[in-house]
Amino acid sequence: MIADIEQKQAAFAAAAGQAATPDQLKTLRAEYLGKKGFIPQAMKQLRELSPDEKRACGKLINDFKTQVESRLEEIAGALQTTAPRPGSQSTFDPTLPGRKESPGALHPVTRTMDEIISIFISLGFNVEEGPEIESDYYNFEALNIPADHPARDMQDTFYIEDGRVLRTHTSPVQIRVMEKQKPPLRIIAPGRVYRSDSDLTHTPMFHQIEGLMVDKDVSFAHLKGIMDIFLHEVFGKKTKIRFRPSFFPFTCPSAEVDIQCVMCVGKGCRVCSQSGWLEILGAGMVDPAVFQHVDYDPEEWTGLAFGLGIERIAMLKYGVNDIRLFFENDLRFLRQF
Ligand code: PHE
Repeated sequence: MIADIEQKQAAFAAAAGQAATPDQLKTLRAEYLGKKGFIPQAMKQLRELSPDEKRACGKLINDFKTQVESRLEEIAGALQTTAPRPGSQSTFDPTLPGRKESPGALHPVTRTMDEIISIFISLGFNVEEGPEIESDYYNFEALNIPADHPARDMQDTFYIEDGRVLRTHTSPVQIRVMEKQKPPLRIIAPGRVYRSDSDLTHTPMFHQIEGLMVDKDVSFAHLKGIMDIFLHEVFGKKTKIRFRPSFFPFTCPSAEVDIQCVMCVGKGCRVCSQSGWLEILGAGMVDPAVFQHVDYDPEEWTGLAFGLGIERIAMLKYGVNDIRLFFENDLRFLRQF
């Protein structure tokens, strides 16, 4: 029996030196330590030996057992650090190309906003801001939209507690600025606005830029000139522009400004509903009733104002046909800009 054990010890040493995979390790373990393995079987046979033999062989087998256990553990440890991750065939292939890092970029709405702001800054306008939660007074009343005025229905207002509202446009910033500053002034007010509306061209939150210029003898010609410069800068010098009479309670006269359709260049298509024109912003001369709310003398001062939607301009500039894409933040969409 002693010879048997010694022979197995040598065989184990050789096999252990070869074991390189978890499967081989498993076989080795079964072969020596498993129920039917060499060591447990040899222990069983001890019973049939004489006391002297029992002692000698018992010690030999026990030593062999500890030896096998620690060697198998050693191999298992080594396998764990070099083993490939499950599913992968090899460990590391230095010839593969690196993983591509795509740098972040400005959101198309932010880019359009920044571009428009810098055009107006170059025309001498200062940037102002106002709160998104507004009082009824600033959002409506001071803009010549009294409580019973039908124009309140034009904008699907989100009402919140204490009679306050999520501002439906950036026009309340006109009032806040005129309360604080004496004329002459030239400001733009970019920011978020809210209306309860949602479809291909409307989202409950969107961005506007308000413009206001108050001075002596500001006229509709100034308004036309500023809109011409601005729209040509954004859509290109060849873009045709037209003013259409319209109504806003806080401007008089009021106009809606259209550009020639950027998709069909005036021929008529789905985007412009076959009209060849796209409505792009609202504008007009500041109504004297508004000046009265901020104690400006309408005999002395005149003003022009305009308000435009950023998403609408971004959609036309980049050919995006669903405004909701701007707010889903799908990287496949955003990476195209
Ligand atoms: N506040 C108007 C709107 O949101 C736009 C506008 C601003 C019109 C200033 C005229 C003058 O529809």
